[in-house]
Amino acid sequence: MLRFDSVSTLKMHLAAIRRAGKTVGFVPTMGALHAGHLNLISQAKQACDMVVCSVFVNPTQFNNPADLARYPRTLEQDAAQLETVGTDILFSPSVAEMYPQPATLRFDFGLLETVMEGASRPGHFNGVGLVVSKLFHMVQPDKAFFGQKDLQQVAVIKCLVHDLSFPLELIRCDTVRETDGLAMSSRNRLLTDAERTEAPALFQALTLAKDMLLDEATPEQAKAAVVDYLGERPAFKLDYIEAVNTDTLQPISELQPPGQNALCLAAQLGHVRLIDNVVF
Ligand code: PAJ
Repeated sequence: MLRFDSVSTLKMHLAAIRRAGKTVGFVPTMGALHAGHLNLISQAKQACDMVVCSVFVNPTQFNNPADLARYPRTLEQDAAQLETVGTDILFSPSVAEMYPQPATLRFDFGLLETVMEGASRPGHFNGVGLVVSKLFHMVQPDKAFFGQKDLQQVAVIKCLVHDLSFPLELIRCDTVRETDGLAMSSRNRLLTDAERTEAPALFQALTLAKDMLLDEATPEQAKAAVVDYLGERPAFKLDYIEAVNTDTLQPISELQPPGQNALCLAAQLGHVRLIDNVVF
């Protein structure tokens, strides 16, 4: 695996690869890698000749400075893990390399960001749009891989690719879970043992609500069941539970065709904010 932290050397190397006619797959991450990230790399490996992974904790997408400060940084362990799944290039730039000067441009993703994470974390998707656009320009991938775990992020990036005509294919990969159902997340390592034991209740609540919706309950009834389920567990502070259309992310009042229903939630567990969703 080659490692670059400068944009110019990365670009030089990738230009030679493209001249040789090879296709490039790209997996952007913020590091603290787990099996969910590594699955994205494996998908990219299968679909492309070579794979670039970026590890960059992007300050512009954190609206909470404490969250940014706490975010786990484990670059050498990440590099070792990336080697094991055959990553070709690791790009890990500094903040100064990515943002030589503060960005002025602001993204507006319209209705996609008035709900859920967009509503709870003002400015978050502006930062995501900014850094992903920069990375797309630097890497110029043929295919880019994102996890369903961050469903709203996938919708925002789809809009970005479409509206800015990025010449690449966006691929959404399934959420990878622990055996007890908890969605893998870099933030899970910040949970105490007691919190970690409680955490699978999020996926249990989503599964319960999904089964209700498929069994003719209304979205409102399914959402109320999630509120009750987590309400019985005082460790959680539910931020939101929404039943939405998978593409538009707008609330639904009845069951949509298969694949277009999503139940999405965010909850605080101790100091850690966790998100999860199910698509069906
Ligand atoms: P990060 O949270 O590190 O996630 C990197 C990618 O891994 C995202 O596409 C995310 O959806 C995916 N991912 C995380 N957990 C997953 C899981 N359990 N199963 C499957 N995929 C999972 O998302 C970001 O970083 C940043 O916003 C980024 C896109 C890198 C821009 O800074």
